[in-house]
Amino acid sequence: MTQKTMSKEEYLNKVKDLDTTSEAPKVLENTDFLTVAKERRSVRQYDQNYKIEEGEIRELLETAILAPSSSNLQPWRFLVIEDQAEKERLSPIANGQQQITEASVVIAVLGDKKAYNNADQIYSQIAEKGNMPEDIKEMYVNSILENYGNFSEEKLTRIAMIDGGLVSMQLMLAAKAKGYDTVPMGGFDESEFVKAFDVPEDYEPVMLISLGKGKKAGFEKTRLPLDDVLQWNRY
Ligand SMILES: Cc1cc2nc3c(=O)[nH]c(=O)nc-3n(C[C@H](O)[C@H](O)[C@H](O)COP(=O)(O)O)c2cc1C
Repeated sequence: MTQKTMSKEEYLNKVKDLDTTSEAPKVLENTDFLTVAKERRSVRQYDQNYKIEEGEIRELLETAILAPSSSNLQPWRFLVIEDQAEKERLSPIANGQQQITEASVVIAVLGDKKAYNNADQIYSQIAEKGNMPEDIKEMYVNSILENYGNFSEEKLTRIAMIDGGLVSMQLMLAAKAKGYDTVPMGGFDESEFVKAFDVPEDYEPVMLISLGKGKKAGFEKTRLPLDDVLQWNRY
């Protein structure tokens, strides 16, 4: 039996055709956390004329970077692609996904594998606030430099990806709470992206996030039953 498959590009672009809903995404009157978490959906069709002000993007990112990170090293880095010509240049690298060119901006979330080099700056802020004695700070920073400095590339990548995932989620929820929509994207060629956008060598692409005013709501949520994914105490 021959199995029917499709190219990655066809597959990614099929998703939006399957989405037959005609409703616009919900604008939330109630933005308490549980409502926002329930109502966020991946939105793939955007109002192309909607411009988000830089100040609002900064506000969303200020909320996103409150996310937790390994040793508070905050390895996330953001490349905000707002120029239409740059979005067009990104489009083929991201399988021609419509949301790349239609959403107000695309935010590339990156993870800096050498973020531990900022340990002194980060822990000095904590010490200056009076939340850590100077000598403890020195010890902390030295042990971070030593430990992280000896971690394998694989482990540093893993840390950058985990922390990058957390900040991405926080960004998408912040956007929903502020009346915007998003879709996270892994469907792009990472090495082409790095080349085309001059991404520094130590930065690992985590995901792309389209951000804008959604035109169509996106799929209603379907999830595996909780009990299919839940185990208590031991496997
Ligand atoms: C890491 C990651 C990569 C994803 N990549 C894509 C993508 O390239 N294109 C796309 O249309 N959706 C992409 N998605 C969105 C998922 O399809 C979507 O989150 C999932 O179907 C659940 O729907 P919901 O986000 O509306 O709850 C991605 C999601 C994640 C978390």
